[in-house]
Amino acid sequence: MHRVDPIGMEDSEEPLEQWEVKGSEGPYAMILTRRDLSTLYPGMHRYTLRLLLGDRTFALFRTNTYEYSPTDPLDAESVARREADNWKSLLSRDPETFFAAHLEQVREPPRSKKNDVLIIQGSPRADGNCSIIAGWVAAAVENAGFSSEVVFPHDLWISGCIGCYQCYNTGFCTFDDDMTGIIASLRNARLLVICTPVYTSTVPGELKLVMDRFQAFHAETILAGRFVKRTGLVCAVSGRTGKDNFTCVTRVIHDFMKNLHIIPGEPVLVDGIDRLRDVRKVPGLKEQIHAAVTESLVAGGTGRHGC
Ligand SMILES: Cc1cc2nc3c(=O)[nH]c(=O)nc-3n(C[C@H](O)[C@H](O)[C@H](O)COP(=O)(O)O)c2cc1C
Repeated sequence: MHRVDPIGMEDSEEPLEQWEVKGSEGPYAMILTRRDLSTLYPGMHRYTLRLLLGDRTFALFRTNTYEYSPTDPLDAESVARREADNWKSLLSRDPETFFAAHLEQVREPPRSKKNDVLIIQGSPRADGNCSIIAGWVAAAVENAGFSSEVVFPHDLWISGCIGCYQCYNTGFCTFDDDMTGIIASLRNARLLVICTPVYTSTVPGELKLVMDRFQAFHAETILAGRFVKRTGLVCAVSGRTGKDNFTCVTRVIHDFMKNLHIIPGEPVLVDGIDRLRDVRKVPGLKEQIHAAVTESLVAGGTGRHGC
């Protein structure tokens, strides 16, 4: 359940019921609609309740079927209808309180940043091998005439996704923490590079947490129907020797990228670093990273067009 900044009715919304509510400025129209999002997730429907005067929206409430867990006695449609009853009741008794409460709910959508490339450095070691690689990636981007931003999830305040699915009501997360800035950085970027160590055959926890929280960006793009062409690149380092150490890392990151319509290129996988200790000792690796970044920038088109 979430209230957001009023946004216009979408073509894909099916009107369910309409009520007329008396008000000082004239009769308000209160409209309940349903949007079928089952092409996204099976059985997902989003209900929207709006209070309108002419074409101006004064209040908005949204809820979707995925918000309610199996043991929850509530369901989305009855919650939306109960909210409609609450609105009617409060509007007739105390319209001032009603409008004041709805104005307080307005939240600005996050702003986009201006970087061309987002680099996520997933190791908790700020001076480790993945950081060295992230530095090489940033240098390659700059060399190609583009800008980048490097983020270190371990240095940031980011809550884990709680699976509330409210991002599919609004297009943004219920948490407003450092993840808001990371999403803003991807919004303008044409290339996402993830540098990660192998931790217990997959990615470190904080990096996984960032990937889960990108669900809000998935919701934002799906609801807006706005897909920007982006490419992705994975640079991963393992302690043990053998490319099989990267099976889960590449699977997890590539599935994450595909979910966000990011097309991943051939990953750069550096194994056996427990023996070498330092990626700078791997012959030709810096040049390989440079070439992979340049190729990804070319594949992504690198045009500086806004979203
Ligand atoms: C908690 C932890 C788990 C790890 N798990 C694996 C593993 O499953 N397979 C592997 O090959 N290396 C594993 N490693 C080794 C790291 O992948 C390796 O040290 C990597 O170079 C670290 O990158 P960094 O220098 O950027 O921190 C693990 C290291 C740590 C600290």
